[in-house]
Amino acid sequence: MKGSLKAVITGTGSYLPDQIVTNDDLAKQVDTNDEWIRTRTGIRERRVLAEDLATSDMCIEAARKALEDAGIAAADLDLIIVGTVTSDMLFPSTACLVQHRLEALKAAAFDVSAGCTGFLYGLVTAAQFLETGMYRTALVIGADTLSRVIDWSDRSTCVLFGDGAGAVVLEAVSNTDYGILGSYLGADGSGAHLLNLPGGGSRCPATRDSVEKGLHHLRMEGKEVFKFAVKTMGEAALHVLKECGLSQEDVDFLIPHQANLRIVDAALKRLELPSDRVYTNLEKYGNMSSASVPVALDEAARLGKFQKGNLLLLIAFGAGLTWGGVALRWAK
Ligand code: ACO
Repeated sequence: MKGSLKAVITGTGSYLPDQIVTNDDLAKQVDTNDEWIRTRTGIRERRVLAEDLATSDMCIEAARKALEDAGIAAADLDLIIVGTVTSDMLFPSTACLVQHRLEALKAAAFDVSAGCTGFLYGLVTAAQFLETGMYRTALVIGADTLSRVIDWSDRSTCVLFGDGAGAVVLEAVSNTDYGILGSYLGADGSGAHLLNLPGGGSRCPATRDSVEKGLHHLRMEGKEVFKFAVKTMGEAALHVLKECGLSQEDVDFLIPHQANLRIVDAALKRLELPSDRVYTNLEKYGNMSSASVPVALDEAARLGKFQKGNLLLLIAFGAGLTWGGVALRWAK
């Protein structure tokens, strides 16, 4: 069976909160300005989730659109994976909450924690189940509500992030030229300290002291993460292409993790790709962590950017440190 089955994306969906926070809005809260944020990151505005909603609520909206797009009923799903670092609770998984609300009664469900690479880690994991023939249909979601864990008084991080969710339906298809052709995942835990949220886990449980020390906020050494990102985005892309026996010229569209326009530009340069082969939306949404890649994929697909048979290259990096890439032939 293995070898004849491929994991094919048959539906996409996304959800963005209604509330828009512009750079000028942030300049009223911290010592920053629109010009600094735009020139250093490319971001103009981001979305922030309403207080009474959580990550699973965004997952549900994105999932329903992806299921509708694929023409699949939730009851037919065999597997649900959510890539997130801002689950509703420490446990159970957000995937289980989604499974229940979608009434996807036969689906196994679990979360993947790989920072901004979470969606790609989830996509590659789901693809393995489909390619082996164990499951036929999977839902993979990337969703994060980083607004809940940002220190809104820290200008070096609060300007960068936004909330959102993106989802894809994957189906196992036999003897097809379309679908996921190859993938690559990397990790280097020696960089765990560069981007993390130390409070609330077993090493540093929530106490009055941990809250007073701000340990429940995202911490990042931006410059180091920047250098890592520039190196690994290009590496991941080249690694996947080589594995598939393809080269840069074969790439029709690059869908990179949307953290910083300068990082995206560096990846384009490394791959020697013209700027019309990349889809970016970070000017509108900022860095949505795990949601960045699937939201960009859904937006570009719905804008009619892809043609059937196009080669798409998805690449990301994130906390862990982690990074990865997926090459796929668009089937819709
Ligand atoms: N407004 C104005 N000034 C600022 C701001 C701000 N919002 N933030 C920092 N500055 C100041 C700094 O204090 C510093 O001032 P100083 O020179 O007087 O000390 C100056 O601007 C330069 O700061 P740098 O940190 O050197 O700025 P840099 O050019 O490196 O850009 C940035 C910072 C945008 C964070 C960049 O390093 C970056 O994008 N890093 C990667 C971050 C990233 O991708 N994170 C996502 C990881 S994925 C995940 O898993 C969540």
